[in-house]
Amino acid sequence: MIIESLLLQNFRRFKEERFNFDSGFNIIIGKNGSGKTTLLEAIYLLSTGKSFVTNAVQNCVNVNDDYFFIEGIFNKVSGADANPNTLSILFSRDKKIVHLNKRKVKALSEIIGKFPVIVTDYALVELVKDGPSKRRDFINHVLTFTDEDYYKNVLRYYSFLERRNEYLKNGNFTMDLLIFLSQEIYDYGRKIREKREKIINDFNERIRNIFYTIFEKESNLTIIYRPSKLEKLLDTDSLTDEVNKKRTLYGIHLDEIEIFDGEINLREFASLGEAYSIGFILKLIESELIERYKGTAPILLLDDFFSHLDEVKRDKILNYIKNNQVILTSVSIDDVSKKILDSANIITLENGSNGNN
Ligand SMILES: Nc1ncnc2c1ncn2[C@@H]1O[C@H](COP(=O)(O)OP(=O)(O)OP(=O)(O)O)[C@@H](O)[C@H]1O
Ligand SMILES: [Mg+2]
Repeated sequence: MIIESLLLQNFRRFKEERFNFDSGFNIIIGKNGSGKTTLLEAIYLLSTGKSFVTNAVQNCVNVNDDYFFIEGIFNKVSGADANPNTLSILFSRDKKIVHLNKRKVKALSEIIGKFPVIVTDYALVELVKDGPSKRRDFINHVLTFTDEDYYKNVLRYYSFLERRNEYLKNGNFTMDLLIFLSQEIYDYGRKIREKREKIINDFNERIRNIFYTIFEKESNLTIIYRPSKLEKLLDTDSLTDEVNKKRTLYGIHLDEIEIFDGEINLREFASLGEAYSIGFILKLIESELIERYKGTAPILLLDDFFSHLDEVKRDKILNYIKNNQVILTSVSIDDVSKKILDSANIITLENGSNGNN
């Protein structure tokens, strides 16, 4: 997948800007606060409906305005076989209005997964070193782009879970209702668990190999999946326990996913640079899996790529990337190796304006 151009209106510091991208490497250069992350955020928002910077999309509206508009032209390939898709989001009064090729999209789920992107930023460290929710979100993201039904099943699961938790909390329910909700959560949960098991196996089949290819070092990396005991949802003893504790105690929202190197849990022991590198490997595997399932490599949005890795690792990673469009940000052009610079499209941001038009 590639993005050919991006139009931003009232999106954070950008009043009105258009950016054009190459199908290979694109490097966005600018000082702190010039809008580099904002640009990646806008592309991510088009693809996923979410920001990777904030949970409150409202914050993306320029402080002097009351709406933002983003439009991107996406393509599976560049050149003669091109079949461009224009995707836009108008955000106003806390509502997103999405258009695909000028046609209004009724539900965001219609387009989620169609224009795959992967973002890497400092949160890669959290992916490895924080609690399991970060890794559950990551696996959810991978499956959203590799499995047609997964995202819908997760939405249904969470909507039943929320209802169940609300009833448990306020105590206003019948046992029949609770058992009905348990069964729904169990059924969707099983489907989700099966998919998670399978994709984590896919990761494990690749992780040591890719690590070795990039870093030329052996490792015993493994992702360990410990699903929460879903079956307990159908058990009357645990139901009594849940009624007493006033919340759902079992289900895929509590699954544990840990990354080990041999006996060592990286959550506890990885250095920041190591965590970042391993996080990066996970994203590269994600990219390969998306490419395999979707037939198109996702767009890689690499924020502040040069800040976290030593030069050797950076070069090895960039040399490894072959099939993806890459949009990379950096505060300085000096960090970019000559080989990459020669083939890259450079976009320079100055005070929120860009120099590529
Ligand atoms: N809603 C908004 N309205 C106007 N300006 C905003 C808004 N949100 C953020 N900004 C401004 O945008 C700038 C942040 O942009 P961004 O994070 O994209 O910079 P950056 O180039 O990635 O910087 P860094 O190198 O520090 O990562 C800040 O100057 C901030 O004040
Ligand atoms: Mg930034």
